[in-house]
This record gives sequence, C-alpha cells and structure tokens, in this order.
Amino acid sequence: PERVFSGIQPTGSLHLGNYLGAIVNFVALQEKMDCIYCVVDMHAITLWQDPEELKGAIRQLTAAYIACGIDPKRHIIFNQSQVAEHAELTWVFNCVARLGWLNRMTQFKEKAGKDRENQSVGLYDYPVLMAADILVYRATHVPVGEDQKQHLELSRDIAQKFNNDFAPSMAKLGLGDAFFPQPEPLIQGPATRVMSLRDGTKKMSKSDPSDYSRIHLTDDTDTIAQKIRKAKTDPQPLPSEEEGLKGRPEADNLVGIYAALTGKSVPDVLREYGGGQFSGFKQNLADLLTTRLTPIGEEMRRLLQDPAAIDAILVDGANRARVIAAETMRQVKDIVGFVRG
Ligand code: AQP
Repeated sequence: PERVFSGIQPTGSLHLGNYLGAIVNFVALQEKMDCIYCVVDMHAITLWQDPEELKGAIRQLTAAYIACGIDPKRHIIFNQSQVAEHAELTWVFNCVARLGWLNRMTQFKEKAGKDRENQSVGLYDYPVLMAADILVYRATHVPVGEDQKQHLELSRDIAQKFNNDFAPSMAKLGLGDAFFPQPEPLIQGPATRVMSLRDGTKKMSKSDPSDYSRIHLTDDTDTIAQKIRKAKTDPQPLPSEEEGLKGRPEADNLVGIYAALTGKSVPDVLREYGGGQFSGFKQNLADLLTTRLTPIGEEMRRLLQDPAAIDAILVDGANRARVIAAETMRQVKDIVGFVRG
C-alpha cells in the first residue's frame, strides 16, 4: 500500500521555505494517500536545544501543521520521541549503513563546517534516523524540499542493503524479498528551494541570523510588507522570459515564490510583470503573502492558547503511529535474528 511520511524539526519558527517546499505538499497529499506527519524532536537535539524552547517549538509546529490544513483525525500527526521504535530501528540501520555513505552527506559537511571533530555523533547519524523514520512505517512517498534529496537516496540505499543482507532470512519467514520499499522523494512545485531574501544564492533557513532573510508563518502584515520591500534585488527591470532570470538569483527566487502562491507558471508571471520595476511586483507579492499567511498565523495563535489540547493530539497520533511501527519492529527483530520477549 502507498503511504506518505515526512517530518519537520521543531527548531525555531517555520518559514516560507518550509511552507512552500514541504507543508503545501503535505496538505495536498492528504486527498490521495494515508499520511503520517512527524514533529522530529529527536532530530532537533542533534544540535543543542534549550529544553523549554524545544517544548514550545514542538507545540508550535504541531499547531502549524493543523493551521495549514493537515487533518489530525484522518491522518497522523505525532511527535517522534513518543514512538520509541524510531530509535530502535535506527540502531539496526546503523549496523546496515556504511561509514563511507555517511561521509558523503553534504548537509553534515555544511552544518559541521571546519569544526567536524566537535560535532555530536547524532548530527552525523541524522540521515540514518531519517531512514528509520520513513521505513518504520514502510512509507513509499516522502514529500521534502530539494535539500533533502541526498538523505532520501541514503534511505533507499539502506532499505536495499537491508533487503539484500537479510534476503534468506526474509524468505524463510515468508516475507518476500522487498521487506522495505524504496521510498520515493516527492520534490514538487515551483518552490522546492526557496532562497534567502538577503542572498539569492543561500537557501531560506531557520538558522540564518538575519530575520530579514525569511518570512515566518507568524509574521504580521506590516512585517511581511517590510521584509519584501527590503528583499534584495538587482537594478534591472523584471525580464519578460524565463531565460532572463539566469544569473539573477534574487529575481528568480521572488518570481518563483509568486508563481507558487498563485499557482501560475513562471512564464505566465513574467508575461504579466516583464519589463516592469520590482516595486510594483513586490507590493503585489507582499499582498499575496499576507492573504495566504496571516490566517495561518492567527489560527496557530488560537490553537496555542490550549497547549493541553495540542498535547492530546500528539498522544493520539503517537498511539496510532506506534501500532504500525511496532508491527514493523516485530518483523525486523525476527528477520535480524533477535529473540523476541
Ligand atoms: N528554503 C527551503 N526551500 C524549500 N524547502 C525547504 N525546506 C527547508 N528549507 C527549505 C524543507 O522543509 C522541510 C523541513 O525541514 P527541516 O525541519 O529539516 O528544517 P531544515 O531544513 O533544517 O530547515 P532550515 O530552515 O533549513 O533549518 P536549518 O537552518 O537548521 O538548516 C524539509 O522538507 C526541507 O526540505
């Protein structure tokens, strides 16, 4: 059966990149498949988090999922650390994944920088935990932004090596030869990589020190207008054709965001605005963002007034997720040769 899994880290406040690159697709997929959306707090602590802030961020992300339109009754919203099977399967996968594979992960290299020796083992192991997140539900489809493509490939490699390493055992147990599916990344839409508003060559990111580099889901109308007005652009007018966006990363980014918000194609947006100055375009873009984001921000604030209700949604989600994850782990233990208690 087809099943969707994806997660977001509860670190800092969600931004337009998370929204257009991931959440919009999460919402759309609900109509087609069973979906499981996770608040990946165990991933968050690969970099130190203040405990009180982490708790707040977990509830905030849960509220954002719901405010953006994910239905926690029809689908599952839960918190990673409440389903212990994620950690259990990670250990098995740690023994399947190869050091050489992890050494190639560019996100670790970017996050570690020059200070590699001082990073947590968890930051290095991050993509193995991600493989376990997905495969403990034997999920087939994973909506993510462009930056997660390499991690998804690693998940596929781990699934395949596990299936190969334990093929005879799986056959003996009558579990076929593809116990774990090859999870497919869904990197969709015109905004799979939203860039910083201050520098069109860097991705929009929660950890960018400048608040002006990103739009938060919780920003108010004035803040959105100001951030878009101040967004970096070049002195040329907007081009009339897509070709003209080459070598102009900031223009490319803003047009991509506009297209994503309106559902128009990039050529259509350029037909409308080509030859014009950025000021008018930016004004309309700010209005679009306000119309889309302010109701989400308001709904988040409303939901967050009742933290106990949010916690109850997470407990209910974890209970339902655990049923699926526990069944996978039971079979994995048989396949690997553990004696189950
Ligand atoms: N700029 C982006 N454009 C498109 N998609 C993006 N995603 C993140 N940034 C962009 C997607 O959002 C989902 C959640 O990502 P995450 O929780 O792993 O957060 P992240 O990638 O760590 O987010 P940041 O903002 O980039 O945080 P830092 O600064 O810590 O690195 C994923 O599907 C991701 O692809």
